[in-house]
Amino acid sequence: MTKEKIVAEKIRVLLTEEEVNRRIGEVAAQINRDWAGKPLHLICVLKGGVFFMCELAKRLEGPVSLDFMSVSSYGSGTQSSGVVRIVKDLDEPLEGKNVLIVEDIIDSGRTLSYLIEILRRRNPANIELCTLLDKPERRVVQDVQVRYTCFTIPDEFVVGYGLDYDQKYRNLPYIGVVEF
Ligand code: IMP
Ligand code: MG
Repeated sequence: MTKEKIVAEKIRVLLTEEEVNRRIGEVAAQINRDWAGKPLHLICVLKGGVFFMCELAKRLEGPVSLDFMSVSSYGSGTQSSGVVRIVKDLDEPLEGKNVLIVEDIIDSGRTLSYLIEILRRRNPANIELCTLLDKPERRVVQDVQVRYTCFTIPDEFVVGYGLDYDQKYRNLPYIGVVEF
């Protein structure tokens, strides 16, 4: 039985597991060229970024360290306000490090814009952003500079590869569109 049949919502495959993994390999190769063996400190924004971070990190060739943080965005309904509360902070300081924030998706950009502000104050040597998915049509905050994007997608609600709908479907090995 396929995963599509055992779930309640209908999920249409947007990007297959093979497509996602191939593209992560290309982006990892680009990061390897850009950083040429310099240490990279990856920050995963829980929970959505976990699957992407693991696949990316496995393909990086220089010294890599990992840390995790969890944030919740104040605001009602589906709109994030951009004011972020740190639910779980990083374990390690960022002072002097080459920080790469690894995100599942950039939507309005509000959460990341706020997060980058907070992390910049901890004096990393560099702070760059790497995202699996980008929905530029939804962008509200324009100052979010994304250095590495795996896929630019249209304005549709997607799940899988870490992304959830109501905490479900994070474990799907592909990216799918929820058809409500
Ligand atoms: P924003 O950029 O501050 O609007 O918020 C981005 C966050 O909203 C992401 O980290 C996801 O957790 C969530 N999000 C945005 N679009 C989607 C989607 O299509 N599927 C699942 N979660 C999404
Ligand atoms: Mg997220």
